[in-house]
Amino acid sequence: MRLTVTGVVDPHVHLRGMEWSHKGTFATETGAAVAGGYWAVLDMPNTFPSTIDRPALDRKLGEFSEQAICDWGVYYGAANNENWLHYDESIYRDTCGLKIYNNETTGILLIDDQTIREQHYRHWHSPKPIAVHAEEETVLDILALVRQYRHWTHFCHVSSAREIAYLTAAKAEGLPISIGVCPHHLWLTQDDLPRLGPYGLMKPELETPADRDALWQALAAGVVDVVESDHAPHLIAEKESAKPPFGVPGLDTTLPLLFSAVHEGRLTLEQAIPLISTRPCEIFGLQVPPDTYTVIDLNADYVLERGQLHTYPAWSPFEGMRLHARVLETWIRGVQVYDGESIRVQPGFGQRLP
Ligand code: DOR
Ligand code: ZN
Repeated sequence: MRLTVTGVVDPHVHLRGMEWSHKGTFATETGAAVAGGYWAVLDMPNTFPSTIDRPALDRKLGEFSEQAICDWGVYYGAANNENWLHYDESIYRDTCGLKIYNNETTGILLIDDQTIREQHYRHWHSPKPIAVHAEEETVLDILALVRQYRHWTHFCHVSSAREIAYLTAAKAEGLPISIGVCPHHLWLTQDDLPRLGPYGLMKPELETPADRDALWQALAAGVVDVVESDHAPHLIAEKESAKPPFGVPGLDTTLPLLFSAVHEGRLTLEQAIPLISTRPCEIFGLQVPPDTYTVIDLNADYVLERGQLHTYPAWSPFEGMRLHARVLETWIRGVQVYDGESIRVQPGFGQRLP
């Protein structure tokens, strides 16, 4: 069976470029996005340089404009240097939202002081969401700010039963929040770490099977809004080094995994489709252009291998898995950008999301 999904978007990716182009460029990683079935991606600000001031934002906008294959948007990053003083209409216009890192991650954007977090909530006067990295009890700190400022907050890569419990209660309370979960937390656990070694290291970390099961229950119950890849390419040489960086690529594999779960009866199509299309579009206020859709084979049967990947570092923590879904075609604005094997447009085809 072939499925057509309109407006497939990943609101949580790390595409590198600029001074980290050795890990992947906006051209290579937006290529991986269309090969993974995506029309659009939203890029996180923990790049090098970090997207926390106008020059860094302009540099990223410029590289994306020249190189993007899919449509794209970029987050602004909350910093510790009082950059909230410079939030203005031009930043709201040029970004898709604000990202606040409240726990350790790749890059230099950690904010662990609640009074600084509050300054960002107080000064972000845009209808665009605030996306947060918040683990365990930090979720409660952020919920306190949501309760106070009522600003729509997207909780990225929710990974544990406890976080799900906190956020389910917050939804019941009527707080304006949404929840994203990642494939690595749905398909992998701590039990996979001996096998995966550095390829299983990311933030938030892999959790227990009970945590994984809580995420699946939340998906089935409709508590989760978005499945996001948290695509974070690092080179094999970096992962094999004495200090491997956190993060795993995911743009190639998220749709094949999600729709394999549908094939296996773990989720219905009606549950799966909004997670990668309509819900993220609603949350981030994205308009899907005409004739923009993805065709997926729901009866495929293959083992994921490195050679099938389009992400520049060319590895995946899901290598060796048997999958039952495959991206056959990706169309953007009436143009076939991916034909099941190759990318068919040039860098620069992708447009910035308004
Ligand atoms: O594992 C991670 N890697 N978690 C993040 O939050 C950032 C990402 C990266 O940029 O490599
Ligand atoms: Zn991330």
